[in-house]
Amino acid sequence: MRRMVADLNVSRIIAETFVAGVEHYSSLPSTQERAREAASNPFETLPLLVIADRQTAGRGREGNSWWTGEGNLAFSLLFDPAEFDCPRRAVPAMSLAASVAIIDTIAARIEPHRVGLHWPNDVFVEGKKLAGVLVEVMPDGRHILGVGLNANSRAADAPDELKSRIVTLRDLTGTAHERTVLLMRLLGELGTCLRQLGGEPDILGLRFNDLCVQHGQMLTLYQGDRPTVGRCLGIATDGGLLLDTATGLQAFHSGTLQPPR
Ligand code: BTN
Repeated sequence: MRRMVADLNVSRIIAETFVAGVEHYSSLPSTQERAREAASNPFETLPLLVIADRQTAGRGREGNSWWTGEGNLAFSLLFDPAEFDCPRRAVPAMSLAASVAIIDTIAARIEPHRVGLHWPNDVFVEGKKLAGVLVEVMPDGRHILGVGLNANSRAADAPDELKSRIVTLRDLTGTAHERTVLLMRLLGELGTCLRQLGGEPDILGLRFNDLCVQHGQMLTLYQGDRPTVGRCLGIATDGGLLLDTATGLQAFHSGTLQPPR
């Protein structure tokens, strides 16, 4: 049986952020899956925040799994983009908007470390992954935005294959980060970025490029089995990855930087 727990201050989150409902679990397979179940109810009160202290089957993009260490943030937000005057433009601008919100939440906390965007959906600090975003669009247009943020665990506690590739807020600052405060700040920045995506997309879009950490790198983008190699020229205002390829400048709005399995 799934058990809801009380160590996050749920009433404060409801009172002080835009969310209308919160489900907080000690453990779930995946908050993304629980939000999908909730989405099967067309009358669900939105925005709904589903948060879990542990995930036993957390999901990333492209069929990857997502590790949720103790004290980290793992949540999924079920919402209607119209509520933020935001068009249904899920990929890649919505993921990037959420990544910018994460950056705006944590940048000051981790100074002097530099944080940036790793297209299409990651937040990186000095070459290591701090957070990931997963956006899924339901057939009726409602969105599920999943966020995993490595907060209070340590990279050393992660599975061996992740230890050298990830970083946590605790690793960077040496201190614990109170999860209610961190989450409320993140939801506030998320609301700001979603509204900006709706109202001033080019202003937000310029930030995608400013924050991109892949400028100048040679990247291989896979669309299905088809690889395209090019030097990264940044991120376009609509979220497209700009590559200088053998056939000239191209913008990509889908694809993965991982080789197909
Ligand atoms: C990625 O980097 O590939 C995206 C990771 C998204 C992970 C979050 S954690 C909360 C939500 N529940 C999941 O199962 N996945 C997302």
